[in-house]
Amino acid sequence: MQLKNDLLIRAARGEKVERTPVWLMRQAGRILPEYRAVRNSLSGFKELVETPELAAEVTIQPVDILDVDAAIIFSDILVVPEAMGCTYEMIEKRGPLFPNTIRTEADMRKLRVADPHEHLNYVLEAIRVTKRALNGRVPLIGFAGAPWTILAYMVEGSGSKTFSHARGLLYTNPKLAHQLLRMITDTTIAYLQAQVEAGANLIQVFDSWAGILSPAQYREFALPYISEICNSIHNVPVTVFAKGAFFALEDFSKLNCATIGLDWNMEIRKARQQVGPDKTLQGNMDPCLLYSSFDTIQHETIKMLKEFGPQRHIANLGHGVYPDTDPEKVKCFVQTVKEYGSIVGGEAI
Ligand code: CP3
Repeated sequence: MQLKNDLLIRAARGEKVERTPVWLMRQAGRILPEYRAVRNSLSGFKELVETPELAAEVTIQPVDILDVDAAIIFSDILVVPEAMGCTYEMIEKRGPLFPNTIRTEADMRKLRVADPHEHLNYVLEAIRVTKRALNGRVPLIGFAGAPWTILAYMVEGSGSKTFSHARGLLYTNPKLAHQLLRMITDTTIAYLQAQVEAGANLIQVFDSWAGILSPAQYREFALPYISEICNSIHNVPVTVFAKGAFFALEDFSKLNCATIGLDWNMEIRKARQQVGPDKTLQGNMDPCLLYSSFDTIQHETIKMLKEFGPQRHIANLGHGVYPDTDPEKVKCFVQTVKEYGSIVGGEAI
C-alpha cells in the first residue's frame, strides 16, 4: 500500500522532505478525552491493549484529532515480559506491577522465549486492523522496549526512582542479567519482525531507563542487545530512543539504525556532532513546554526547528507527552511545526 503521507519515512531514511514531520511519543492515550471514553467503558488498560479493534481506534484518534504525521500502535512495552511468562497488572494511577519478579535462576526457569504469533498475536492483529483503517493516510509505528528497560521492570516489579534491584543485579549476578537480556532480545527480535510483517512502517525501540546506568554498564548490558535488534530489522527504518543516554551518542552513531531519539537534556548541535551527518535525529522538546502559553510554544518550537535544521529531523517531544497536557497545546506544537515547514519550504534559512 502506497502511503499518502510518507514524510516520516523519508525523513528517517535521510531523503529530502518538504517540511519536518511531527508526532508525539505517547500520543495515543494519556491526553485525549476520546481515549478516556473508550478506556472507561472497559475493565481496564489490558482489555484495551488486547482488543485489536479498540486498540486500532485509539491508535487512530491522534491522527484525526491532533493531525500528526504518524500513528503509533496502541500497546505497551510490557506485553513482552507478559508473553515470556511474567505477567503484569496495570494499577490505576500507580502504573505497572509484576506480582512475580525475576531475581534468581529459579525465577528464570519459569520464562520462555515467546513466539509472537502465539503469545502476541493480539498486537499483530491490532497492527493489521489499524493499517486497513488508516488506508495509507500516515505511516504506522511499531515498537518494543529495549532489553535493559524490560529487564528493569521484570526485576524491579514496578516503576521505581532508583531501580535499585535491577541495577543491583548487574553487580550481584551479571551472568543471570545477561541470560535474561538474551531471552528478552530473542523475543523482541521475533516480535518486531512480526510487527513489520503485519504492516508496521517504522520501528521504535524505547530504552526509557538508559539514563540510570553508568556508561560502562550501558556498553555491557544495553548496547550490544540494541545493536542486535537493529541488525535484525530489515526493510523498515529503526529509531532508537534511549532516555538520558547522552553519554552513548557516539556509540549510537555506529548502530544499524536510521534515527536516534534525543531527550531535552541533550544539546541539539552537540548531539548532531556526536551522531554525525548520517542519521536522522528525533525530538527533543521538553514536554513541560506544553504547559506554557500558545505564544511561548510557538516561539520555542521554532527555535528547536532552527537548531535541528530542515532535513534529517523528526519533530517530537524529548519523552512522552504528560497526561495532564491540554490537547489544544499539543495541536499548537504540531501546527507550528507544519506551518514553519511550509514557510521555509524545506530549505535551510
Ligand atoms: O505512544 C503511544 O501512545 C502508544 C502506546 C504506548 C503506551 N505505552 C500506552 C500506555 C507506548 C509506546 C508505551 C510505551 C511504554 N510503556 C514505555 C516507554 C516509553 C516511555 O514513556 O518511556 C514505558 C516505560 C511503559 C511502561 C508503562 N506503561 C508505564 C510506566 C505505565 C503507567 C503510567 C504511564 O502512562 O506511563 C504504562 C501504562 C500505559 N501505557 C498507559 C498508556 C496509554 C496509561 C494506562 C491507562 O490508560 O490507564
